[in-house]
Amino acid sequence: MTDVRCGADRCLIDMLSLIHLLMLIQMLMLIQLKFTSECTMKIGILTGGGDCPGLNAVIRAVTQTAMREYGATVMGIEDGFEGLVDGRWRQLGERDVNGIIGLGGTILGTSNRGDPWHYPVRLPDGSYEIQDRSQDVLNNFRKMGVDVVLATGGDGTMNIAKRLIDHGMPVIGVPKTIDNDLSATDQTFGFDTASQIVCEAIDRLSTTASSHQRVMVIEVMGRYAGWIALHGGMAGGADMILVPEIAFSWEHVFANLQNRQKNRHRFSIVCIAEGAHLPEGGEVIRELDNRRTDAKQLGGIGAVVAKRIEEGTGIETRVTVLGHLQRGGSPTAFDRLLATRYGTAAARLACTGQFGVMVSSRHGEIKAVPIKDAIAKTRTVSLDNDLVMAARSLGVSFGNE
Ligand code: F6P
Repeated sequence: MTDVRCGADRCLIDMLSLIHLLMLIQMLMLIQLKFTSECTMKIGILTGGGDCPGLNAVIRAVTQTAMREYGATVMGIEDGFEGLVDGRWRQLGERDVNGIIGLGGTILGTSNRGDPWHYPVRLPDGSYEIQDRSQDVLNNFRKMGVDVVLATGGDGTMNIAKRLIDHGMPVIGVPKTIDNDLSATDQTFGFDTASQIVCEAIDRLSTTASSHQRVMVIEVMGRYAGWIALHGGMAGGADMILVPEIAFSWEHVFANLQNRQKNRHRFSIVCIAEGAHLPEGGEVIRELDNRRTDAKQLGGIGAVVAKRIEEGTGIETRVTVLGHLQRGGSPTAFDRLLATRYGTAAARLACTGQFGVMVSSRHGEIKAVPIKDAIAKTRTVSLDNDLVMAARSLGVSFGNE
C-alpha cells in the first residue's frame, strides 16, 4: 500500500514539474515572439544633419526589415530632430520606401538646426531666439509611442543622441556623413559617392587645365578631416592635396608647382579640403550661424589659395568649388549596400531591444558599438595612413615639403 501511495505522489510531483516546465517553455516562446516574428515594437527613424547619398537606402532597409522580419511598425520623423521638437511624424509602409534605394537626399527631410538644447525659435519680428526644447522631445517621444528612435547622422546627430540616451530615451545610431570623420566605424555611407564625384570632377578639370597650361584648384568638403580630398584627389590623380590634418606652407606649395612647370608638366591639380588651415592661421569661414548645431559654415579657401598661387608662381590659376554637388544625387553601389547593411542591422537591434548603440563597420563586418565611442574623437587622416604614404611615393605633395 505504502509503495503504491509513494508511486502516486511521485507521479503527481513529476506531472507538476512537467506542467512547470511547459509553462516556462511557453513563457520563453512568448518573449521570443515579442522580439522576433510577432514583434509589437514601434520604431521611430529620423535623418539628422546635412543630407548625403544613401539615407533613403537606410530608411528603406529599416522599414522593410522591421515590418517583414519582425512585424514592427515604423514611424518616420520629419526633418531630423526638428520633427521630434515640433511633433511631426508619419507612419512608413512598404509603398513609401519602394524604389528609393537609388534616390539621393532623404524622403524624411533633415536639418542641421535641430539641436533640442540649442533650438532656434523664430520670433514675430523675424529674429531668432535659442531655446532649450529638450523636454518637448521627450514628451513627443512618449506621445508617438515608439520604443526606440533610430538616429541617422554624423557627429552632431550622435552627440544629440547620446544626450537623449542620458535622459532616458532609447536611441540607436546609424552613422552617415560624406566627411567620413566618425570614429568607431571604418566608413560612413555617403563618403564613397562624394569621393567618386570629386574624382570625376578632377578628370574633367584635368583636360581643360592641360589645354590652357593652368593650375586648377578644386575645393571639396571636409570640415575637420581631409578624407574626401585624399580619396577623391588620389583617385582623380591630383598633384597636390591640402587637408586640415597636414599644415602646408606657401613656400612649399609654390616650389612644388613651379617644379612641375619646369619639368614640362602642362598642368597641376590642387585638391583642397574646405577645412584646411591657411599657413597664416585658421580656416576660411563663409558665415557663422548660431542657429546651426555647428555654427561654422566653411567655404572660400580654394579662392584664397588660387589667388596666392597665381601671385606666388606666375602660373595662371583657376578655382572650382564643388560644394553640394558632392552631397546630391544617386549613391554609388557601395554606399547603397553599406546603407542597406546598416539599416538592416539597426532594425534588428531595435527589434531585439538593444539600445544605446551605433551600428558600425569594422573590417567589413557590421557590429554595434556604444554611441559614446562614436563621438569620443574625430576620425582624421594620419600621416602614416596607407593612402598618404602611397601619395608620397607617387610624388603627390601635401604642401609641407
Ligand atoms: O558635414 C557634412 C558637410 O557636407 C560638410 O562637409 C560641410 O562643411 C557641411 O556639411 C555643409 O553643411 P551645409 O549644407 O549646412 O552648408
